[in-house]
Amino acid sequence: MTVSSNRSIAIIGVGSTMSRSLALWLASVGWNIALVSRSVNSLSKIADEVKAAQTNADAKVIYRTADAGNPDSLTSTLDWCAQQFCGKLDVLNYNAACVAPSHITKVTPEELNLDLQVSAVGTLVAGQWFTRNANTDNIPKGEWPLFLVTGGTLDREPQISCSSLSAAKAASQTISRLFAQTLPQEARVVVGMPLIRARIVDPETGGYTEGYHPDTIIQTVFKPFFEDREKLQGGVDN
Ligand SMILES: NC(=O)c1ccc[n+]([C@@H]2O[C@H](COP(=O)([O-])OP(=O)(O)OC[C@H]3O[C@@H](n4cnc5c(N)ncnc54)[C@H](OP(=O)(O)O)[C@@H]3O)[C@@H](O)[C@H]2O)c1
Repeated sequence: MTVSSNRSIAIIGVGSTMSRSLALWLASVGWNIALVSRSVNSLSKIADEVKAAQTNADAKVIYRTADAGNPDSLTSTLDWCAQQFCGKLDVLNYNAACVAPSHITKVTPEELNLDLQVSAVGTLVAGQWFTRNANTDNIPKGEWPLFLVTGGTLDREPQISCSSLSAAKAASQTISRLFAQTLPQEARVVVGMPLIRARIVDPETGGYTEGYHPDTIIQTVFKPFFEDREKLQGGVDN
């Protein structure tokens, strides 16, 4: 199944792996795309690549820096994204995380607090914002807005080498599951949690883990959520 063209997404936490591949794929199917992270140089480079992949001359690719761990910064940036795209978004992908090593005996309270802000508080703020700004116009046709939160297995299988991120991911995945329980009924938004089950980059070789090339992950793990959101009645699969 192909997904509809001419829809709008904001991706919060854009880097060189899955988020870049997601933007490239959606550009190829004609979406408006807003890219958000903290580094303007990285955003500018990825935005140029995404523009080059566009198939719809009328579609927009925009970007803006924001700290997703800061609720005011995240909210004002999401407001700006929506304004650029006629006031509403079809999909919001929350992808930001500090993917960095930390050991439970050495991680500082400040480091844990930062991870909680970016992973958990950011997910909370983004999900609540989307309940007010999701495009629900196409629901009568079976197409629902989607809040998509990128996850992995650290919440269920915490790793000593990524102690702080494991704890923060446990919180963010719980927030996502709570949203999944309530947003379809309360806000007419469906929640997707694409789960990446291995490290994308193999720490020993520095290359992609077999089967985990970002483009492959987008087609096999992310794309089904975009297909499913277009064939829903009442927020559940037909
Ligand atoms: N990589 C893996 O192996 C793996 C495995 C399982 C799950 N995941 C999950 O997948 C998601 C994406 O991870 P990824 O490594 O593949 O990264 P990615 O999609 O390449 O990019 C994520 C980007 O988020 C941005 N970011 C970090 N903190 C931010 C903040 N406070 N505000 C705004 N943007 C911020 C960073 O860019 P700036 O530094 O420029 O802001 C980073 O490049 C994460 O949620 C991660 O937990 C990753």
